[in-house]
Parts: sequence; C-alpha cells; structure tokens
Amino acid sequence: MKAITIPTPGDPDALVLADVPDPEPGPGEVLVEVAAAGVNRADLQQRIGVYPPPPGAPEYPGLEVSGTIAAVGSGVTGWSVGDRVCALLAGGGYAEKVAVPAGQLLPVPSGISLVEAAALPEVVCTVWSNVFMTANLLPGQTLLVHGGSSGIGTMAIQLAREVGAHVAVTAGSAGKLEACQALGAEILVNYKEQDFVEELDRATAGHGADVILDNMGAKYLARNVQALATNGRLVIIGFQGGVKAELDLSVLMRKRGAVISTGLRARPLEEKAAIVAAVREHVWPLVEAGRVKPVVHRTFPLAQAPDAHRELDAGTHIGKVLLTV
Ligand SMILES: NC(=O)c1ccc[n+]([C@@H]2O[C@H](COP(=O)([O-])OP(=O)(O)OC[C@H]3O[C@@H](n4cnc5c(N)ncnc54)[C@H](OP(=O)(O)O)[C@@H]3O)[C@@H](O)[C@H]2O)c1
Repeated sequence: MKAITIPTPGDPDALVLADVPDPEPGPGEVLVEVAAAGVNRADLQQRIGVYPPPPGAPEYPGLEVSGTIAAVGSGVTGWSVGDRVCALLAGGGYAEKVAVPAGQLLPVPSGISLVEAAALPEVVCTVWSNVFMTANLLPGQTLLVHGGSSGIGTMAIQLAREVGAHVAVTAGSAGKLEACQALGAEILVNYKEQDFVEELDRATAGHGADVILDNMGAKYLARNVQALATNGRLVIIGFQGGVKAELDLSVLMRKRGAVISTGLRARPLEEKAAIVAAVREHVWPLVEAGRVKPVVHRTFPLAQAPDAHRELDAGTHIGKVLLTV
C-alpha cells in the first residue's frame, strides 16, 4: 500500500509518499481501507520529530480515519467487512489501509459523508473525555475554550452548547470569532487585542469559567487559574505556549480549583474503548440528529500531505483539514 512516511523529520516536505507493507489486523483488530484521514496539530509535532508514536503504534502519522472495513481479525464481534466506519488511532492514518483495535471504531453517522466522518473521532473523543468525563461541565456552567476556531475548539463549542452550557472562546481574528459565534459561542475574546481574564470577568459578572479547555499550557497557566470560577477545572491538552511555568498556588487554593492535563494518544486500549463507547452513546445521537456537525475547512489528496501541513502551519484554517485517499 501507499503511506506517508517521515524518512527525516523536518519541514512539510519531510512527508514522503512511499510504498510500504500492508498492515495485518491482529486479534481484536479490523483492517480499514481508508477514505480520508484527519490532520491534527500533533501530526505537525511528529513530522518535526518531537512527538514520536507510542510503543506498538504504526510509525506513520495520522490519528483518525474514515473508511470501509476490509478484513476482520479474530475475536472481533459486531463489525463486518463492508461496514462504513471512522476510527480513533494511535498512528498510521496517512495511509491506504490501517489496522484498528475494534474498541476504537465508530459507525459513520447517518447524514455524514464517508470523507467528513474522518473529521470526527479525534476531536469528539478529546472534547468528550476532557470537558465532560473528566471536568464534568454541567448545564448552565461556563466553558472557556482557547483556540475556539481550531478543530478541537469548533467541536467543544458545539458540544457545550448542546448540553446547555455557556461558551467563551479566544481566537486571533474577528473572522474566526464570528465562526465561533455561529457555532454557539457567546463570549468572544480576540486574544491579540483583549485580555481574556478581564473579558470573562466582565461577561460573567465576576463568576469566571467553570471549565477551561486549554491548548496553550505554560503561557496561559497563571491567567487561566485567575479566570477560573470557584471550584473551576482547568484542563490542559496542548503546550503551544510551552511546558514550564510558575503558579501562585494560593490563587488555586482560594478558588478550590483543579488543574488537570491529559493526552489521548498514549492511553491504554481499555480507556480509549471506554471513551469511544461514551462518545457513541452521548455524542453520536447529536451528530445523527444534525445538531452537531464536523467543521471541515479543506481537503487535500494524500499525496499532497505537505500542502495540508503547510495549511495547518499557516493557521488560517477554521475547523479541520483532511486528506483523502
Ligand atoms: N491532549 C490531547 O489528547 C489532545 C488531542 C487533540 C488535540 N490536542 C491539542 O489541542 C490543540 C488544538 O488541536 P487542533 O488539532 O484542533 O489544532 P489547530 O486546529 O491547529 O488549532 C490550533 C489553535 O491554536 C490557537 N492559538 C494559537 N495561539 C493562541 C493563543 N495565544 N491563544 C489562544 N489560542 C491560540 C489557534 O488560534 P488562532 O488561529 O485564532 O490564532 C488555533 O485555533 C493543540 O494544542 C493540540 O495539540 C490535544
């Protein structure tokens, strides 16, 4: 089969389409013939050599795909050859075929095209596991999403809106904030011109954010804790602003706040399967009802993976970039 390989980490041209051996589905796995693969920020990190795949994962980039089941390994029940699926992966999605643990499969929701379905698994699983399973966002509470127009952000806004929470977002341009508003965000902060702590304080009459979904890490840590409501939960899922920071713990204690950080990719299979099952139960009905939609910015053919990475590197996208196979 053909897959995108990274012979030497570096700029987007480090992504090279090559002939590689077909994957074999092991016990408990299925083989998916890939229709489309999502491009995630983590793939950019893998490309430059700072985010290697976890042990046992395929070496090619790609954390999510959609496609059709081409073979079923031993011990798999509930899935058949020909089923249209999308899947969460630990790697290997930038390819014509990928072997997937059956617990990480989801059916393509009705009303969603096979290609669009590739935009769902990584963002839905990340948002549902962090904002709802871990931080327990409740109806009426306020969620602050940094990078509201990102792949993750566009899903977080929609899911929080659907449970009846209020959504605040940060983004770097008026156009991106408008897109967030159209998805349901009520409090819009241009982080290049405004201070999100002040804006949130004003908009919530001093209450702050019950939950913050943060992609920035160190750069925002102190201000995020300031922006928390009493009993607030800060969930850090990205380190775009660095990994080391200083924190005044007395501020955290006064808020009775929690700082949590999780990564999805390296979680054990059982945890991923539990997240995928929760997503199927809670999120899939919203997608099938047309209330929550994948936000697809642009698609590129697999061979143009370098252009897809350039697009994400440029940061002009709203929602997801996909590769079609
Ligand atoms: N831990 C996990 O399991 C997990 C899983 C998936 C994703 N993630 C993380 O989630 C984040 C989003 O992922 P993605 O794939 O959706 O990436 P993406 O679409 O490339 O989004 C990156 C976002 O960062 C925003 N940003 C840059 N500087 C900012 C600043 N100073 N303040 C606020 N926002 C800023 C950008 O907003 P502007 O364009 O408006 O500047 C953009 O929306 C990444 O950090 C990724 O690593 C973590």
